Amino acid sequence: MPVTALVSAKSCGVTTSALALTLSSNRPSLLAECDPAGGTVRAGIMQGQVTAGYGLYHLAAAERTGADALAGAFASHLWPLDAAGQRKLLPGLTDPAQAAALGRTWPALSEIMHVLSEEAGYDVFIDAGRVALESGRLHTTLTPAPLLYQADLVLMVVRGTEQSLTLARHLITPLRAELAEHGSGADALGLLLIEDGPSRAHQVAEALKAPVLAALPWDAGTAGYLSNGGRPPRGYGLRSPLLRHARTATENFEAAASRRHIQRQYPARPANPQLSGVLARLSQNHGGGKRG
Ligand SMILES: Nc1ncnc2c1ncn2[C@@H]1O[C@H](COP(=O)(O)OP(=O)(O)OP(=O)(O)O)[C@@H](O)[C@H]1O
Ligand SMILES: [Mg+2]
Repeated sequence: MPVTALVSAKSCGVTTSALALTLSSNRPSLLAECDPAGGTVRAGIMQGQVTAGYGLYHLAAAERTGADALAGAFASHLWPLDAAGQRKLLPGLTDPAQAAALGRTWPALSEIMHVLSEEAGYDVFIDAGRVALESGRLHTTLTPAPLLYQADLVLMVVRGTEQSLTLARHLITPLRAELAEHGSGADALGLLLIEDGPSRAHQVAEALKAPVLAALPWDAGTAGYLSNGGRPPRGYGLRSPLLRHARTATENFEAAASRRHIQRQYPARPANPQLSGVLARLSQNHGGGKRG
């Protein structure tokens, strides 16, 4: 299953879409909140249940101890998003000042996410926040660049508004160049359209010269609940417009990632027994319920 990173130019719906995709996938799924500007799910739909003792920041210290410590810490810092424990959250940073500590952790973290996707069949969605460039390159602190380089798909989330397209347009070429030079290829880049504004998918694809891999409807009720928590809107569930389309989107991404794999004939990743231990730990933690 693919590791899919979501980015935007500015507050287009990365976190909400990543959450909708994680909650609606047909497969076990993980939302890794890796936005260097800080996570919002903790204070949103999780309504403060996840304490600061859990999450991404703690993985930086574990990584300094070694790969095995990181794999163990990763499994124990995931939070269940459903009762069955099939959908998990790696809660994000609680303070943007923590981002600098993660710089050297991203590559090892990316390895773990790929083990989860390839060996345990997880759909992995990474909230990678806003794209920040420095001299045309991905900023090393303000973006989790290694996660983008190694992702099977990098989705630029855009709305069909003139403002959103204008902001995204400047980022597409440098992002594509970065993925070609340091990542798995420029064709990893696709668009996820939030249907807000007048532009349709074909117009967005034409304007940004990149394929629209999926579209999500404007669904203020479901999106508001996913972003802010509180009481779910009437009729909330997998049949809500946002979650229903998100499920279709996960299938589109899976198909797009498979096509890339076949075309590129990637060599199989070497087995890493230390990392594979993370899978055993995850199945031990499979039951949902509160942790603390
Ligand atoms: N499909 C949608 N329908 C309606 N509203 C949406 C949709 N997706 C996102 N929103 C709303 O747009 C706002 C921004 O969404 P979100 O926080 O997910 O964006 P973001 O890209 O993660 O922003 P940031 O870069 O600030 O982290 C939120 O109020 C959210 O509820
Ligand atoms: Mg966000």
